[in-house]
Amino acid sequence: MTALLETRDVNVYYGEFHALQDVSYRIERGEIVSLLGGNACGKSTTMKTILRLVKPRSGEVLLEGRSILSDTTAGVVRHGVASVPEARRVFPEMTIEENLLVGAHTRRGSARMLRADLAAQYEMFPRLGERRRQLAGTMSGGEQQMLAFARALMSHPKLICMDEPTMGLAPIVVDQVLESIRRINRELGIAVFMVEQSAELALSIAHRGYVLVNGVVRLQGTAAELLANPEIREAYLGATAA
Ligand SMILES: Nc1ncnc2c1ncn2[C@@H]1O[C@H](COP(=O)(O)OP(=O)(O)OP(=O)(O)O)[C@@H](O)[C@H]1O
Ligand SMILES: [Mg+2]
Repeated sequence: MTALLETRDVNVYYGEFHALQDVSYRIERGEIVSLLGGNACGKSTTMKTILRLVKPRSGEVLLEGRSILSDTTAGVVRHGVASVPEARRVFPEMTIEENLLVGAHTRRGSARMLRADLAAQYEMFPRLGERRRQLAGTMSGGEQQMLAFARALMSHPKLICMDEPTMGLAPIVVDQVLESIRRINRELGIAVFMVEQSAELALSIAHRGYVLVNGVVRLQGTAAELLANPEIREAYLGATAA
């Protein structure tokens, strides 16, 4: 079976700096996959490579078996990959509804379909519906994260790439965000590739994970395998070496 998304031996450089070194990932349809790793190890670079914001020097990025390396970012979105970027990045001077409509810009479709899509987002995230005319920049961090999710859903993705969706949020809001990721995955069948620095959080909802160390994939496995791995327990879960 071809994977939903596959990167094969991808190498990314920033000038002389070798940021991703022969990295290979595989995301299957309907999966939640976590990308773990410390600061500056290449997590955001991975997401940007998939979204065609960074160009690899070598390697392949395949979506359903087809190379996307000659596509534009809009083309990748049109083919089914949406992104929830670092630090949420909603458009602060636009209303919630205007932000959602931006998420639909790569799609063709009638005004009626757009209205139905908006209604679906407001059903999934009622808070957004109550505040559809509010400027996005005036919403709380958690609300902006919900908006970033809903905006991603407007493009009817098969895969959503999320870069640290829980960063800077209070614990109770983190739980809401994780629950939303679960719902997007379970109810809509959308695959999720998410960067998360907390291994505990990431592996509590992911099916599988990859651990990146200095631009190299160091470990990969199911969530249970990674949780049981002594190296992960020591480095990320606060366990001390036996
Ligand atoms: N545009 C750029 N130009 C030069 N170097 C860059 C650029 N973007 C990223 N880097 C470098 O590449 C490395 C990986 O950056 P990246 O943002 O992918 O890390 P990260 O794993 O997402 O880190 P964090 O956890 O801090 O978000 C870092 O050393 C960073 O300084
Ligand atoms: Mg990052």
